[in-house]
Amino acid sequence: PSCPRRAHPGAREITSLSSVEASKRAAAYAAVDAHFSNAPGYVGIGSGSTVFYVVDRIRQLSVGRTSNTGFVPTGHQSRELLRNAGLRMVRLEDVPGMISVAFDGADEVDGWLNCVKGGGGCLLLEKLVAIRSKVFIVVADQTKLSHALLTSYRHGIPLEVFPSAVPYVLSELRSLGSTDPRVRDGAPAKLGPCVTDNGNFIVDAPFPPLATSGAVVELAESLKGIVGVVEHGIFWRGDRRPEKAFFGGAGGVVR
Ligand code: 5RP
Repeated sequence: PSCPRRAHPGAREITSLSSVEASKRAAAYAAVDAHFSNAPGYVGIGSGSTVFYVVDRIRQLSVGRTSNTGFVPTGHQSRELLRNAGLRMVRLEDVPGMISVAFDGADEVDGWLNCVKGGGGCLLLEKLVAIRSKVFIVVADQTKLSHALLTSYRHGIPLEVFPSAVPYVLSELRSLGSTDPRVRDGAPAKLGPCVTDNGNFIVDAPFPPLATSGAVVELAESLKGIVGVVEHGIFWRGDRRPEKAFFGGAGGVVR
């Protein structure tokens, strides 16, 4: 997508990691070590700066080994990561059955493992990969863990919206109680809105924190019901929330 995205360090800079980067790396490495095997099958690769370390670890574990694993990217960024790592890519539409395991980042995760995703502008293909995966694993630094979604991630729920539907969707979001929903700017902002890999816009819809699992479900269903919303960034029980999340932090990795 043409959205502003936080930079991830190149492989050569990995020796001087900040503590947040070290936390992301610890989470990603632990998740891969626990759930990746070179067995024939398919592995989904999500988006974001933490997923960089997922691919980095898989690359390390794959050196000198022949493998029939097909890696399913969720967008331009993960395609580039996989290409640079020399890993075999398979498009989601070419996967015949289920994906064995998918690894992805998140913008916020609550105690039930419901997630908000889409901070980098990718969520549709990520959700399609998640629902087609036998095991879906989230990797993040511990700042992403919170007691209620939208407590720490204050930008709101990211939504992928069909461009012609934007005015209607914004007014529906206001009626649902969203305070100041907006079309996200692209990077650079002067060139217009953020355009997803699928040619749609991203709308960020702030809501008050979702203090119960019931509130998460209710909002997810309401957002899905708005005509013109292609997909929303709540990954919950019905849409597919992760089986497991790995959070890196000063005290090690919590899972
Ligand atoms: C992209 C996403 C990312 O997975 C999410 O933003 C987390 O990214 P990061 O690992 O860089 O914090 O959903 O749209």
